[in-house]
Amino acid sequence: MNSNLPKSAAAWRPRYHYTPQCNWMNDPNGLVYFDGEYHLYYQYNPHGSDWGHISWGHAVSTDLASWQELPVAIPATERAMAFSGSVVVDHGNCGGFAPPDASAPALVAFFTGFDPDTKIQSQHLAYSLDRGRSYTPYAGNPIIDIGSTEFRDPKVFWHAPTRHWVMLVVVALEQQVWFYTSANLIDWTRVSTFGPAGSADKNIWEVPELFELPIDGDSTKKRWVLIVSVNHGSLWGGSGVQYFIGDFDGKHFKADASDGQLTLWADHGRDFYAPITFANLPDERVLWLGWASNWAYARELPTEPWRGQQSGVRELGLAATSQGLRLRQRMAREMLALVEPEPLLKLRGLPACQAGEALSQASLVGRQLMARLVVSTRGLIDPIGLEFFKGGDDSVRIGFDPSLNGFFIDRRCRAPLFEGQSERHDARRLLDAPDIELEVWIDGSLLELLADGGTVALTDLVYADPQATSVCLFHGGEAAMVQSLDLHQVRAAMYSSNEES
Ligand code: FRU
Repeated sequence: MNSNLPKSAAAWRPRYHYTPQCNWMNDPNGLVYFDGEYHLYYQYNPHGSDWGHISWGHAVSTDLASWQELPVAIPATERAMAFSGSVVVDHGNCGGFAPPDASAPALVAFFTGFDPDTKIQSQHLAYSLDRGRSYTPYAGNPIIDIGSTEFRDPKVFWHAPTRHWVMLVVVALEQQVWFYTSANLIDWTRVSTFGPAGSADKNIWEVPELFELPIDGDSTKKRWVLIVSVNHGSLWGGSGVQYFIGDFDGKHFKADASDGQLTLWADHGRDFYAPITFANLPDERVLWLGWASNWAYARELPTEPWRGQQSGVRELGLAATSQGLRLRQRMAREMLALVEPEPLLKLRGLPACQAGEALSQASLVGRQLMARLVVSTRGLIDPIGLEFFKGGDDSVRIGFDPSLNGFFIDRRCRAPLFEGQSERHDARRLLDAPDIELEVWIDGSLLELLADGGTVALTDLVYADPQATSVCLFHGGEAAMVQSLDLHQVRAAMYSSNEES
């Protein structure tokens, strides 16, 4: 390990992605919009920066960009840690948790209660009548218990066409999602099973999610997407997010035949896991975010006093590509609102070497940046892209490699702080358009690449020298053309406090 590097650097803390002020955080939980607020709950250890005492931490936002940290919403008890799950707004008071004279509906949380003694995982319910600040455990918990030690992460939603509630839970070691339905949120009937499918490795399945998405923005053409987070044997080892496209009739999910054999990954970096969508949004969008980390090394990340960060909020769609239907992820417009409108640099139609020269003359630096680079495929021979955190021992390259016809994040470094840090991750291009588009979001130690209109996503953590902040262009042969480059500062959005004013 490079002895010059600090054990943890303030420069590594993301400023527009959510991190708790201190302590451990993993999966997002119970994302929900209610009464003017977006709620972000998450797996949280109130007592330290390692996994343990797992509770639901809590933050709220009114703009989906800046978050205020609030006290723990669902604390671990001696008998049950609060593992991952979801929240619904019970508009029809199906569960009867809101008193008859209540002016607002109850928020109902579903989570896995993990008994630290027996190791049994069972599904629990808790409800909130104070705008998601605190939750009262249902007296009849657990609501589903099959006596298993690997049965978790309930996702509940209202299926309007069949007028019932649906719950997905994973039976992790069997690589299965079990589907349940209910009329009252309390009594659940098992109706179907999906899996094993997709990635053949010895994965365990976690955090299921299911939603409907329009194809190429056409809301008359929709398909269902089943998400399963898988751990141990994903794309680069460790954790990753698999998805299946198909149909859902309120009880059964059926993957499209052509995709049944294929493993589709939502993100080709190493640091995007357990994503879930926001419930009860005021518009038609499907928005999600994921834990930007990987179980392979999450416990070793060199940050303190916090450990764990969430990805940006991404809007989802399906894109018809030459390879078939694929998930499309674009940063939500609320994230774009954080981008300084005046660019640090704007270039148009230049040979790559001139663009590179212009960039180096501008002497740009930064750790909170958003860049859009559009490059022509014509005459492109060598890799081209942007290099960040230059100036120290290592930097990170984000670009396109014509020999692979793919995008990459190259975070290789000389003195890795943990195993798996020094790697390059790549993803094949899915579009044939003559121009290649890279949108890059840099935030301290968190990098998100959403390329070709979001048809390719790569999320990676990078712990570069805190002093190294320069930005450069590396380019691809004499004939390479930069169609456009826009580089912007992104405003720090985070504000964190445990008190509500
Ligand atoms: C996924 C996961 C879930 C579990 C939670 C525990 O990262 O392992 O399956 O509920 O984290 O913190």
